[in-house]
Amino acid sequence: MPKDTLSVTDNRTGNTYELKITDGTIRALDLRDIKTTTDDFGLLSYDPAYLNTASCRSSITYIDGDKGILRYRGYDVAELAEKSTYLEVAYLTLHGELPTKADLAAFTNDITIHTFLHENARRFIDGFRYDAHPMGTLIATVGALSTFYPDSKDVRNKEIRRRNMIRLMAKMPTIAAWSYRHSMGYAFVYPDNTLSYPGNLLSMMKRMAEPRYEPNPVIERALDVLFILHADHEQNCSTAAIRNVGSSLVDPYSAVAAAAAALYGPLHGGANEAVLRMLTQIGNVKNVPAFISEVKGGQGARLMGFGHRVYKNYDPRAKVIKKLADDVFQVTGRSPLLDIALELEKIALNDEYFIKRKLYPNVDFYSGLIYQAIGFPVDMFPVLFAIPRTVGWLSQWEEMLNDDEQKIARPRQIYTGYDERKYVAIERRQNASSSK
Ligand code: CMC
Repeated sequence: MPKDTLSVTDNRTGNTYELKITDGTIRALDLRDIKTTTDDFGLLSYDPAYLNTASCRSSITYIDGDKGILRYRGYDVAELAEKSTYLEVAYLTLHGELPTKADLAAFTNDITIHTFLHENARRFIDGFRYDAHPMGTLIATVGALSTFYPDSKDVRNKEIRRRNMIRLMAKMPTIAAWSYRHSMGYAFVYPDNTLSYPGNLLSMMKRMAEPRYEPNPVIERALDVLFILHADHEQNCSTAAIRNVGSSLVDPYSAVAAAAAALYGPLHGGANEAVLRMLTQIGNVKNVPAFISEVKGGQGARLMGFGHRVYKNYDPRAKVIKKLADDVFQVTGRSPLLDIALELEKIALNDEYFIKRKLYPNVDFYSGLIYQAIGFPVDMFPVLFAIPRTVGWLSQWEEMLNDDEQKIARPRQIYTGYDERKYVAIERRQNASSSK
């Protein structure tokens, strides 16, 4: 009779233990019963970078990396990208169900009326160095917002929590656009609450002397679809960051700033920026084979926009994005870097090195080219990722707060340093750097 348990024999003692299996997992804490003596601390599991550890139960996003499946609350991301809007998907991510017409109207209104920033926050952005990277400005400004909304510390109060979540989603495009305009030396453009969520972002970024900015509908829709594709991605680096930081019960502005900081790294949200820099560096289709050889040579060069920790078949978002790129290029004209990207993709998908390691184009391979075609500078790419991901971060943060099993995050370690040592007076110490 099969049982949902795992029998483990500790060969140090000969003792056998039966561990419960639930949802295909064992509880790491059950390993603590496995001891060599009664005062032994118990067995730990060692899992650097969380390669095989579930840190939470979540009902928000489902990924099957081998089959290339990504679903928000059960809905396939490609279908949402085709039929839905970003605000509808944001509502879904947050509340668990697609909104009715009335729900969506109320949610859209809530987001729209919170788009303005306190004037002191505008002056705060103005205080950054003239060429500050907009992602650095965004991270700092989001964190600074906690000082404007001290009530947000009351994270256990649902009403207060939800109000600040709405504020964050609504203000993110304003902070993003103003971070960009400051880095360019352009005057700030205030939100236009008659426009859609992506339309307003375009207005705040691009409007110059015209009294009102009219977004191109193809570009506006493309941005909306990109936002849908980036809304959530279960337990990635930045989401793990907001769950960890948020587990200390810090306010959501500080927690989102931490998540955005995690997103800034080149192996996460900085990857599409890295793709564009890589394509620019390759410069010409004829240089592609040499670049591929360099990557395969293992000298540290990576084919940016390829590979994924979870997707080992294909990234479903990359498929949608490739089609989207065609629509955008119809309006903006073809990027000269597109030919290099297509050639890289063609060679890599047929090369043993990439096939063996299951390396496929990920979401970032084409998103950078689209952003560039729309006229966004590469520095803005991680910022454009952070805007739609805010709803994913906040949904995961709230789920963590409502989960009775969660506590302040506190991993264990395997200590590899010295055993106890006697303090040595400074005049008796040998030169520390020469002894290393
Ligand atoms: N180019 C060349 N080789 C690669 C690449 C790449 N992009 N990615 C992985 N490899 C190789 C790696 O060298 C290793 O080879 P070997 O077994 O010979 O040592 C093998 O594939 C496994 O790599 P890994 O680093 O252990 O895989 P990982 O799961 O830790 O890394 C990754 C995932 C996304 C960090 C990595 O594939 C990468 O650095 N890709 C480029 C950066 C990128 O595009 N990031 C965006 C991720 S999608 C956006 C998001 O969801 O955040």
